[in-house]
Formats: sequence, structure tokens, C-alpha cells
Amino acid sequence: MRDVAVIGVGITRFGELWAKSIKDIFVEAALKAMGDAGVDHIDSMYVGAMSPGLFVGQEHLGAVMADYLGVTPVPATRVESACASGGASFRQAFLEVASGASDIVLAGGVEKMTDGADVTDTLATAADQEYEVYHGITFPGLYALIARAHMQRYGTTREQLAAVAVKNHRNGSKNPNAQFRSEVTLEQVMNSAMVADPLRLLDCSPVSDGAAAVIVASMDVAKKLNKNPIRVIASTQASDTIALHSRSDIATLSSVMKAAQKAYKMADVTPADIDFAEVHDCFTIAEIVVSEDLGFFDKGKGGEAAAQGWTAIECNKTPINTSGGLKSKGHPVGATGIAQIIEVYDQLNGNAGARQVKDAHIGMAQNMGGSGASCVIHILEGK
Ligand code: COA
Repeated sequence: MRDVAVIGVGITRFGELWAKSIKDIFVEAALKAMGDAGVDHIDSMYVGAMSPGLFVGQEHLGAVMADYLGVTPVPATRVESACASGGASFRQAFLEVASGASDIVLAGGVEKMTDGADVTDTLATAADQEYEVYHGITFPGLYALIARAHMQRYGTTREQLAAVAVKNHRNGSKNPNAQFRSEVTLEQVMNSAMVADPLRLLDCSPVSDGAAAVIVASMDVAKKLNKNPIRVIASTQASDTIALHSRSDIATLSSVMKAAQKAYKMADVTPADIDFAEVHDCFTIAEIVVSEDLGFFDKGKGGEAAAQGWTAIECNKTPINTSGGLKSKGHPVGATGIAQIIEVYDQLNGNAGARQVKDAHIGMAQNMGGSGASCVIHILEGK
């Protein structure tokens, strides 16, 4: 395989973007990424999107976006893996460049969730329809089950869940593209409206619009075009049962463990070498479980890590979700995996402003679909 690098990035603001269409926001992010990379052509493109057909009535998104971006006839393909669609889009671009099939590929992601669709029902299409959704459960409910199991087995507390939200809102308050740029207190999280016991409003990622895009290139091309190419040193993916009840342990996300093991091997690093990580905190419990299953903390200690500040930007352990995470930055599902890559890229280039992690050389992006039935992990290395 050839060495692959990210050479440019572009992102829209995340939030309720009612004045713009799904095409507008994707094109905005893609043009920014191409401008940032200094390229006027791409060899192909991928568009990560979970459910544009249900959210805004538009399928065939690869062709739609190639058309509106003005790059036809380049090959353009939509990639779908529920909330991991963005990560899967980036992985397809990585594989295409690594294989030698293309030199410059755009990997994007987009979702427009606030235009009036029934969001909870649409998101629930990523769970098992016959055995989960038919009985009335939704994603907040599924993650609430994971939270209860984790609390019972490891003693994780309500305060520890809330600590994740407090930290991510603090980080998001420093991110100009974040949906919620407000800090919240532990008390506000603990007293926010109940959604699915024990998860409250401020434990949940919000409903969002947004788009993100990056330019992926072979290292040879990258060095000619870009002073600071960021190398992709691992790209892995794993799957798990679609329904929670089929798992032997619902307090562990085995797709995360499997993808992480493969990623560490591919990059020839250990969890201790990861200087910071963007992880899929669709609910506060998800960040806690993922931080354990990635090997940053012992199993059962993820809650304590959040409460003790071991995942904060200024900590000397593993800063997690410096962007604000899905919780505060927002979660336009198809765009999330690409937005994570952008935060890693910005951190490794020293461009994260008030969110900058000191001495950041190696960063990880972990993106997952549904209740962890799919997981995509990338590790990137800066200078
Ligand atoms: N975090 C912080 N604030 C939030 C929020 C969130 N997740 N969701 C909504 N808010 C705020 C809104 O901005 C609004 O504030 P305002 O009154 O000052 O304008 C207020 O809370 C009520 O917003 P509303 O849109 O009426 O909330 P809702 O009850 O319709 O939706 C949730 C709240 C938590 C149910 C919804 O955000 C949700 O379903 N989140 C999970 C999404 C999900 O499952 N994603 C996939 C993960 S696998």
C-alpha cells in the first residue's frame, strides 16, 4: 500500500441550518476543503450520509453532490454505515489512494436532520427493526440500557456520566463551528429533562445539520502540494451484532475493541502513544465505554477518568473530544466521522486555537454506527 495523507479540510457550522439545503452545505464544505488543499481537480469522491432519503427526500447523493460541486464526470459514491457513514467514507478514500487507483480523492459527509423529518424514527432505522424498534425502543433507550449495565457492573455513577457532558461543552465553547457553544455545569446536566433513564437531555448529542469534507492524497502528491501533510497510519473497521440482546456483554463494545486492536497493529503503536482522540460520544455513556474499549483506561474506569479530568484538554493522560464531541459540536450523523478527522488534522497541524493539545503528534478518530454494530477507526500522525 502507498502512504496516504490528508492535505486539506473544510467544514460548515453545525446546528440548525434552515436557510441552506443539503446540497448547499455539502458544496460549501467540499469547496473549502479543495481550496485549503490547493487542488482544482479530484480523481473521485465519496459522500457519507446515513439517511438523506428519509431526512430530506434525496437519494443518489454521490451523483447529486458531484453535479452541484461541478466535478462531473468523476466517480462519486455515497457511503452508508449509519452514524459511522463519515468514517466509512474517509476509509474508502484512504483505500482508493493507498491502492494506487487514484491520487487525489475527496471524502465528505453530510446530513440535514432539522428539515421536518421524524428524526427519532429515522435514526432508529439503524437498529434491528424486527427485534428492537418494533417493540418501541429508540437510540436514547438503547444507550440507556448500556448505561444501566455499566453502572451495575462497574459502579459508574450519574455524576460521572454528567462529567463527560460538562467537559465536552467546555471544549465545544472554544469551537467556532460547534452547535452549542455554551458551558454547562454538573448540576445542569443532572437536572436536565429525563430522556431515557438514566440519560437526560444533556447526556444526548443533539439533532443537527452539517457537512464536512477532506482531501486525501498519496504522500508523493501531498508533499508537492502541501507543506504539512498529515499521514494516515491506520484505517480499520469492525462490525458487531445489530441488536444489543445478541451480545454477551452490553457494557462492552466489541466492534470498538476489534477495530482498535487492528488499528494499533497497523500503526505499530499502543494506546499510550495516542496523544488525543475524537470518539463517538452520541451519549455520555458511549464516551465512557469507548474510552475503555480503546484501551485508554482499564475496563470499568472510564467514568472515573471523565470525573477526574483525565480526558480534559489540559490533562496529562488522553484528551478526548477536544472539538466538543458530538455532544456539544453537534451530530449531523453522516458528517460526524469526517468532522472528527478534521479535528485530528487541525490538532496535528497546531491549528486548534484555544483547544490545542500540547505536543500532539498522534491522534485517533473513532466513529461508530447504531449501538456499535459498526465501528471505523483512523490514526493520523503529524510531524
Ligand atoms: N444537548 C443540549 N441541548 C439540547 C439538546 C442536546 N442534545 N437537544 C436539544 N437541546 C436544547 C435545544 O436547543 C432547546 O433549547 P432552547 O429551548 O433554549 O431553544 C431545548 O434543548 C429543547 O430542544 P428540543 O429540540 O425541543 O429537544 P427535543 O426534546 O426535541 O430533543 C433529544 C432532545 C435529546 C431527544 C434529541 O436531541 C435527540 O434525540 N438526541 C439524540 C440524537 C440521536 O439519537 N442521535 C443518534 C445517536 S446513535
